[in-house]
Amino acid sequence: MRMKKKRHGNDRIELLSDLFCENAAEAVKKENAVYKAEAPLRVEIGCGKGDFVRQLSLKEADYNYLAIEKISDVAIVAAEKYAISRGLGEKAPNGGWVKADGTVTPYGEGKVDFTLEERGNVRFLVGDAKQLLESMPDDSVESLYINFCDPWGKKGYAKRRLTHIDFLNLYARILIPGGKLCFKTDNRELFDFSVEQIGESKFRIEDITYDLHASEFNAENLRTEYEENFSAKGFKINYLKAVNEK
Ligand SMILES: C[S@@+](CC[C@H](N)C(=O)[O-])C[C@H]1O[C@@H](n2cnc3c(N)ncnc32)[C@H](O)[C@@H]1O
Repeated sequence: MRMKKKRHGNDRIELLSDLFCENAAEAVKKENAVYKAEAPLRVEIGCGKGDFVRQLSLKEADYNYLAIEKISDVAIVAAEKYAISRGLGEKAPNGGWVKADGTVTPYGEGKVDFTLEERGNVRFLVGDAKQLLESMPDDSVESLYINFCDPWGKKGYAKRRLTHIDFLNLYARILIPGGKLCFKTDNRELFDFSVEQIGESKFRIEDITYDLHASEFNAENLRTEYEENFSAKGFKINYLKAVNEK
């Protein structure tokens, strides 16, 4: 996702830092937990502006969610949209954050304090998914979501695809037995590659379609930003759900 560098990017992250984890271990720790309640953890890799995790975390609210995004300027947009959607206030017209009670925290004056209850069941984490997930313990994640990841189509770049067997082995380790990997893409070549790689992994494909919006799975589907965009342009959306059979 290409974006112009955001003005006040760091200040904006600082303001909403209660909604961020500093590392992946924080999302799984039990003492001084970052979530309001203990619950199975779901992870989205490459959350973009966060439309998917925002919807899923409300629809299936009995889980905790960690939304990983490598570009900090994108992650802050996701966190701000999440905060607004949960009634935690809004961006101040002249910079900073206005809480729902009217309290303004300007840029550069520290973070806005939210209670664990207010923070809800989603946390954001900025960084590269590979490094972050490698630091997570075995059997610590209930489901993993990858939506419209980079196809890395150029020759020699296959190892960077988030569905390459090296990533699948990592996912199988951190997911619980029976844990789910859900994957959507408009890119048929990447999808076919992913199906092939899953065939060599510990995952078993449970659901699959090459046209999600015309399929039986559409009723339960939550559309992402990219999904809206690609399907409006006439691209079919490929979807699969795979079970960890380690
Ligand atoms: C094409 S966008 C899709 C965004 C969103 N998932 C959607 O479907 O609308 C892919 C996002 O994944 C992020 N991303 C790509 N590789 C990543 C990685 N290795 N770790 C974390 N985020 C990554 C990108 O920065 C980008 O925001």
